[in-house]
Amino acid sequence: MNVMHVCANPKPTEESVSKQLAAAFFGKLIELKPEIELVNVDLYDEKPPFYSFELYRAAWNPVFQEGYELSKVEEMSMNYASKQAEMFNDADVLVLTMPMWNYGVPAIMKAWIDQILCPGLTFTMSKEDGVKPLHKIKSIVLLVSSGGVYKEDDDRDALSRQIRHAFEFIGIDDLEIVWAEGQSPLFFNDCEESKAMALEAAAEIAEDTAEIDLTPVAEEAPAE
Ligand SMILES: Cc1cc2nc3c(=O)[nH]c(=O)nc-3n(C[C@H](O)[C@H](O)[C@H](O)COP(=O)(O)O)c2cc1C
Repeated sequence: MNVMHVCANPKPTEESVSKQLAAAFFGKLIELKPEIELVNVDLYDEKPPFYSFELYRAAWNPVFQEGYELSKVEEMSMNYASKQAEMFNDADVLVLTMPMWNYGVPAIMKAWIDQILCPGLTFTMSKEDGVKPLHKIKSIVLLVSSGGVYKEDDDRDALSRQIRHAFEFIGIDDLEIVWAEGQSPLFFNDCEESKAMALEAAAEIAEDTAEIDLTPVAEEAPAE
């Protein structure tokens, strides 16, 4: 099993609840499946560039203009995305670790998503076939921590919705979420209990992840 772990948190693990969830998740997963191939991407070490006009042209012109040839500058604008896409397309499972910042994903994670969801790299797109994945990711595990508490479908939670819909677009429907909520000690007296519950949940989701069936889905035969 190949696992890609992308982390968007500048804090050290001792000070970061979401990174502690990642430690609990991987501790269990590696105990159950010591043979997993794990690739770690710390976005603060491998910073994604913001989307540029050159990248826009490199990614989307070939979709809309048959035979479009990239200029040298356009080719170079895809360097970060191409390198990340290689790891992404090799992965069976994607793990995303982050805090909630201003009700959404940290900007550095959004910049990475903008790079990775690139036609020609992780999916193809055409009028005839719609969106077709080039990756083989079966499941995403989202490890998140927030100061506040958000019930399911809380309007303020832009984070889990964005992750769900962005990756659904390229064919990944399975999203498992472990959420340490109420982590602000100013407002919640039970933040330690909430964290302990989330750490347990992280280990449980790791058990489920270890059981994921990696058999490739057979392409449906075209109707006669
Ligand atoms: C810049 C910033 C913005 C934040 N915005 C929110 C927010 O919108 N909602 C919330 O519940 N908590 C918010 N928080 C609190 C963090 O989500 C919370 O402290 C979380 O536990 C941090 O995770 P970490 O310990 O892994 O860094 C914010 C914290 C920071 C630093």
